[in-house]
Amino acid sequence: MTTMQQHSTKNSANTPLLGVNIDHVATLRQARGVSYPSPVAAALLCEQAGADGITIHLREDRRHIQDADVYEIAEKITTRLNLEIAATAEMLAIACEVKPYWVCLVPEKRAELTTEGGLDIAEQTAYLTEYINELHAAGIKVSLFVDPDETQIQAAIDCHADAIEIHTGAYAEAGLAEDVTAQNAELQRIQQAAATAQRLDDKLLINAGHGLTRDNVNAIAQIDGIYELNIGHALIADAVFMGLEQAVKQMKAAMRK
Ligand code: PXP
Repeated sequence: MTTMQQHSTKNSANTPLLGVNIDHVATLRQARGVSYPSPVAAALLCEQAGADGITIHLREDRRHIQDADVYEIAEKITTRLNLEIAATAEMLAIACEVKPYWVCLVPEKRAELTTEGGLDIAEQTAYLTEYINELHAAGIKVSLFVDPDETQIQAAIDCHADAIEIHTGAYAEAGLAEDVTAQNAELQRIQQAAATAQRLDDKLLINAGHGLTRDNVNAIAQIDGIYELNIGHALIADAVFMGLEQAVKQMKAAMRK
C-alpha cells in the first residue's frame, strides 16, 4: 500500500485512525504469571469493536508483552500491527522475522514506568538511517516517536522515516495536574509540530500518542494532519468498568466529537 493510499483510509469525517495498545492486558497477566487475560483475545475483540490497528511494545525486559504474544498477534489480527521496539540488534532481528506493518522506534530505559520522552533522533541520525534501511528492506514501514520539536522532526525525515508519532505525554500530564495554561501550551506545541511536519515533508504520516484519555483526546484528534492515535493505558482502564468493546467504541466517539 502506498503512502497516498494509506491517507485515503482516513474516514470521511477526517477523524484519525485508532490504534489500540494492549500492553496492559499483558501487564495484568504477568502480575500473576498465569495465562490470562489473553492479549491475543483482547486484540481480536478490539478489532471487532472498531480498532483500526493493534499496537504492542516488546520491551527489552519483557515486563508485559512476551515474544510468543508478538508472533501470535501478528498471525491472527486482520488490521495492522504496530510493533514498538527500542532500536537494538535483538529487536531488529525479531521485527524482520515477524514483519509487522509498522515498527515504531521508541527510547527505552529499564527503570521507567512507561516511555518517558521522544527519541533523540538528531543525536543518532546515521545509526537510525541504517536501522530504518534494514526494516524497509524487510518491507516494514517505520515510525519514530518524537517530542514536538522541529529539529527532531527534521531528523526523522532525514532518516527516511515513513511516519512520526508525536509524544503527547506532557499535554496529558498538564491535564492531570489541572494546569490549563500548561496544557494549552503543550497543545499548541503539538499543533505546531504537526504543521511543521506537513510543511517539511507532505508524505510523512503524523501519528500521536501517550497519556491520551476519553477526556483529553478530542483536541488532539482535531489537529490538522493527524493520521492515527495510539492509545493504551486509559482505554484498558476504561475496559475494567465498561468492557473492552465499549472502551474502544467510546474512545472512537470521543475522537469524533
Ligand atoms: N505510543 C507510544 C510510542 C508508546 O510508547 C505508548 C506507551 O506504550 C503509547 C503510545 C500509549 O500510551 P498510553 O498507554 O499512555 O496510552
